[in-house]
Amino acid sequence: MCGIIGYAGLSPALPYLLKGLEQLEYRGYDSAGVAVMDGGGARVVKSVGSTSRLKEKVSGQTFTGGLGIGHTRWATHGGVSEENAHPQSAGPLYIVHNGIVENERVLREELQSRGAVFFSETDTETIVHLVHRAMEEGKSFPESVRSVLPLLEGAYSFLMAHADPAEPLVAVHRGAPLLLGSCSHGVFVASDMTAFPGEVHSMIPLEVDDMVLIRCDGRFEILSLDDRRERKPEPIRRNPYAVHGKGEFSHYMFKEICEQPAMLDRILASRIRREEERLSVCFSPDAEKVLSGVRRIRIVGCGTSYHAGLFGKYRIESLAGIPVEVDIASEFRYRDPVLDPASDLLVALTQSGETADTLAALRMARDAGVPTLALVNAEGSTAAREADATILLDAGPEFGVAATKTFLSQIALLTLIGLYLASDDRLREREGKSREEILSDFLKIPALLDKALSLSAGVIDIARSLGEVSTVLFMGRGGDFPLALEGALKLKEISYIHAEGYAGGELKHGPLALVEKGTPVISLLSPDEKLILKMVSNMKETLSRGAFLISIGSERHQEEFSSVSSMSLALPDCPPLFFPLVSAVPLQLMAYHTACFRGLDVDRPRNLAKSVTVE
Ligand code: G6P
Repeated sequence: MCGIIGYAGLSPALPYLLKGLEQLEYRGYDSAGVAVMDGGGARVVKSVGSTSRLKEKVSGQTFTGGLGIGHTRWATHGGVSEENAHPQSAGPLYIVHNGIVENERVLREELQSRGAVFFSETDTETIVHLVHRAMEEGKSFPESVRSVLPLLEGAYSFLMAHADPAEPLVAVHRGAPLLLGSCSHGVFVASDMTAFPGEVHSMIPLEVDDMVLIRCDGRFEILSLDDRRERKPEPIRRNPYAVHGKGEFSHYMFKEICEQPAMLDRILASRIRREEERLSVCFSPDAEKVLSGVRRIRIVGCGTSYHAGLFGKYRIESLAGIPVEVDIASEFRYRDPVLDPASDLLVALTQSGETADTLAALRMARDAGVPTLALVNAEGSTAAREADATILLDAGPEFGVAATKTFLSQIALLTLIGLYLASDDRLREREGKSREEILSDFLKIPALLDKALSLSAGVIDIARSLGEVSTVLFMGRGGDFPLALEGALKLKEISYIHAEGYAGGELKHGPLALVEKGTPVISLLSPDEKLILKMVSNMKETLSRGAFLISIGSERHQEEFSSVSSMSLALPDCPPLFFPLVSAVPLQLMAYHTACFRGLDVDRPRNLAKSVTVE
């Protein structure tokens, strides 16, 4: 993981590095550091914690150098400490690195046996020692970098600078994303285009095995491991919804939860077409092409995206009658899945478009000849570039590490895919309504999200009751089951309370043993006549073991569930097909307020990062 940025140009590098690192913090915020080649040598500043700590450390100092590198870390090799923060160095060389060198131990032992002295526990330090050794053997700086690449196993990218600013900045892409952007005063290279300042209007996404030499006069040369490569710059399209800053909100997560009604309105307006008073679902021609004639859908994702994928299975199978398999991407890639190019479509769900395991699963399907569709939020991300077709989540940038609005966008779009693939007859049979009526219902959901947001007093009471507990169980049936998993994930990731989500019928197959007097059990109750009484029975089973029952259901069934619950929330009624979109809101708010009551850093939970670029 980690975020890296480099600059070589005519302006002082430091302000660009610091600004860029702030933008890259979603990739990790354990420590931050910069090295600026400042005439007489390199000046390195590192600090534990986020870029704001680093900024405090450099304030008051003047750095004039126009060549520099910066790093924000998510610790993999070695604990969170200043010694392990990047840049790492050897001799006159400085490196920032994203990814993992898998054979680090062997390399380190070999280097140490030949006299190298290590100052950190990082795999990164092995790279810089190897390059330094190659230079001592007489190779030039770029030749030395190139010569060590075949020795390094794993997926990674790095930037390496020499204390002599006459030497180029070297950037290497071997599996972790790296983009090159230039402007009138210099060249930037970073893990993500959000780290580029506004004056950078075009970029070159580097490819695996690219090595770039960048000089302060704005010249750069892209080399592959064997030969020179040509690359065409692409215009940078800045996201029109990229409103930075928290505004009047206390946290990004809260702001992002509150943005959901407007976001869903926007998504539905662009995906539901009205022609001669008839409503239909539309996607881009590329997406419609890969969806046409599909006989089996394979969804892959990680974390929240995986939960959204499970929800997609419930909806697509029931609406369209097409089998859907859902895998955690890190399992899919190592379990020899049986793929059939004639019938399958692989759908990669990833808000960032950079999750290492999801990308690997996508590439596996592509290599097997299976068409691929990426549902991504980050335009221009690796998944968006590599898939045959893309559907953008259109959620606007999400800064809170816990995914909220991108989850809602994913489950809304998967429902739309189900509706797109469904025949009119099947819709009538399953939902008892015409496509027209179902889509009209869908268009009313954003207003219901607004109403769900307005129930905050009830949510805050529930959150207060969770402030001191150690375990919370969530349960739901049908489309509420993935929501139960997601509700539990939200709570554990930001409030650090142990939480598990279960299918309602599963509780008595083990987890019920955890229930004792006062254990909170949160039940989700879509207004589905088939399931509601089953859920109420499951709730009673926990109640007789002393559970503190909290239920979230619809006004229509309020009496059934509130009579057995200690606390309950009645959400506005809507068709069961869409109810989980509405109940997602109080689940997110509950996690948010619980974390606030516990005084935690909601937007930056410990040990996590927003984009997971290592496997
Ligand atoms: C990280 C984030 C999660 C996210 C997961 C998958 O773990 O903290 O919020 O759900 O990665 O990310 P993706 O970008 O692939 O959706």
